[in-house]
Amino acid sequence: MKLVRSVAGVREALMAPREEAMRIGLVPTMGAFHEGHLTLFRTCAGECDVAVASLFVNPAQFGPGEDLERYPRDLEGDMHLAEEAGIDLLFAPSAEEIYPPGFESAVEVGELGKVLEGESRPGHFRGVATVCLKLFNIVQPSVAYFGRKDAQQAAVIRIMLRDLNLPLELRVVPIVRDADGLALSSRNAYLQPDERERALALPRALQAGLEACRAGGGSNSALAAAHRILDAAEGIEVDYLEVADLDGPTLAGAIRVGSTRLIDNVLLDEEAK
Ligand code: PAJ
Repeated sequence: MKLVRSVAGVREALMAPREEAMRIGLVPTMGAFHEGHLTLFRTCAGECDVAVASLFVNPAQFGPGEDLERYPRDLEGDMHLAEEAGIDLLFAPSAEEIYPPGFESAVEVGELGKVLEGESRPGHFRGVATVCLKLFNIVQPSVAYFGRKDAQQAAVIRIMLRDLNLPLELRVVPIVRDADGLALSSRNAYLQPDERERALALPRALQAGLEACRAGGGSNSALAAAHRILDAAEGIEVDYLEVADLDGPTLAGAIRVGSTRLIDNVLLDEEAK
């Protein structure tokens, strides 16, 4: 696996594969790799001739007072994991490489960027869409891989690809969970053992919602069943719990456990995928 730090380095490394019309895949990430990221890497490596991952903790998608400074960073460890999962090229730029002095353009995201995560984190999806557009232009992949863990993010990117006529495919990979049901996240590293136990209320609530929906109650009963569990849970704060159309009817929630904010979701209609 090759580690590249500059935009020029990426262009140079991909010149030959592009001339040979190879299929280039891109997995954008912020690092601190876990099995969720590794599943995206393996899927990309299995479907593409050249598997590229980007590792960039993007300041533009963090709000004031969020966890930009304490976000876990481990380039050495991540390099080994990415290589083992089949990544050929890891692009890990500095903040200055992505946002040089004088940088002032951005992607304006529409209505979907203002609800759920977008309501709790104003400007978040503008930051996500802008960095993803830059990464798409730098790497020029045929296909980009995203996780269903961030269902709203994937939906925002899908709309951007459509609206801005970007010539690449979007692949969305299912959520990878720990054995206890907690969706894997780089932020799970912040959780103390007792906090982790309390955090399980979120996947349990979503699962209860899914079961209520499958039992024939539709999205209203899904929401009610999930609320019953989350509202009764101790030691967590519910940020939101809603059903929204995120590439299909989706029960999505965000909670705070101590100083950690976690998100998760379930697709209520598997057919919609
Ligand atoms: P990050 O949180 O590092 O996630 C990178 C990709 O991994 C995202 O597409 C995310 O949905 C996926 N992912 C994370 N946890 C997952 C899990 N448990 N199961 C399946 N997929 C999972 O998302 C970002 O970075 C950033 O916003 C980024 C797109 C890189 C833009 O900066």
